[in-house]
Amino acid sequence: MTISDDPEHWVRATGSTPRRASESPGPETSSAEWRPYAAAEARERLRRIHEWFLGVELARGASFLPEDERTAFLDYYENYPKHDDVAAISRYLRALWRLDTGWVARWIAQRPIRPSILDAGSGFGTFSMIYAALGAEVVGVDLRPDRLDAAERRLAYYEQTTGTSLRVRYERVDVIQRRGQPFDMVWVYNALSHIEPVEQFLQQVRTQLRPGGLLVIGDINGGHPVHAKHLATVRTEVVQEYVAPDGTRHAYAVERAFTPRLLHKLMESHGFTVKRHELFYGGLSILPDPLYAMLSPFQRYVGWNGRLALRQLVVSTPRGTAPQTSRP
Ligand SMILES: C[S@@+](CC[C@H](N)C(=O)[O-])C[C@H]1O[C@@H](n2cnc3c(N)ncnc32)[C@H](O)[C@@H]1O
Repeated sequence: MTISDDPEHWVRATGSTPRRASESPGPETSSAEWRPYAAAEARERLRRIHEWFLGVELARGASFLPEDERTAFLDYYENYPKHDDVAAISRYLRALWRLDTGWVARWIAQRPIRPSILDAGSGFGTFSMIYAALGAEVVGVDLRPDRLDAAERRLAYYEQTTGTSLRVRYERVDVIQRRGQPFDMVWVYNALSHIEPVEQFLQQVRTQLRPGGLLVIGDINGGHPVHAKHLATVRTEVVQEYVAPDGTRHAYAVERAFTPRLLHKLMESHGFTVKRHELFYGGLSILPDPLYAMLSPFQRYVGWNGRLALRQLVVSTPRGTAPQTSRP
């Protein structure tokens, strides 16, 4: 029995009652009108898309993907909780809610009109799907045709297995050169360390955001000793080149990760005002909610090095535009 066949499993893992998408005609369904909704509902939607991701897609071995894409996909998500590990799923979902993804989920839920998000460097499209499941309209862009192909197939599989479509569109384009309609948010997850040149990307983001729009970066803390050690083993040259199967060449950075201080400086020196900078430490998923609520103010970056934080969230807005951010 997979996790998705056993609703009780999800009740045990998350302490909430699972509902089928068809029972909840909210912003998740593509035909529904937009309305803002409560944070608790956002948490439930986040849980539900992971119920599918971990309990259907990964649990069934992503058998709908061609062999090479399937191997790469399963490899990428190798360390995600297994569908029958209730405790690990519970910890994972709790951490997700407290991390960058939870921040964006709460932001989406509060928007007065349906928000649009550019997922810059969308890879397999996991975040495009998550934010669309929360109701946003998402465009995922990536350089790699193999990643985009897998992402398209995942969308189709989601539709096939849930009967619900998501508002996601993928484009194969270098995000630095993308033209098109502006967005309410540009989301960059584990991708800033690859996009090259990063300064040009930040210039470009300014043209891709509506007035008051947000650039939201979720990334590792490049200054953490474990990350720093790992990065030293995965590359010799930071700036390299990606050559697509059709021969198109793109500059590509190999894991040029930023410390909190460097990332803060990068934003501020490229015309962005940092509205929020949070550092995430280990143990996030274990603390009970009341204890976490007491400690979470200490996650704020206040100018020190923050060497021991594992990850960071930076929310910024181009200077000179009205901010859209309040604590979601
Ligand atoms: C480490 S992956 C992260 C994928 C995704 N954000 C996630 O976390 O699942 C980084 C992705 O950024 C893409 N990328 C790097 N530079 C890019 C560029 N200039 N334009 C578009 N995509 C780019 C890569 O092809 C890769 O799929």
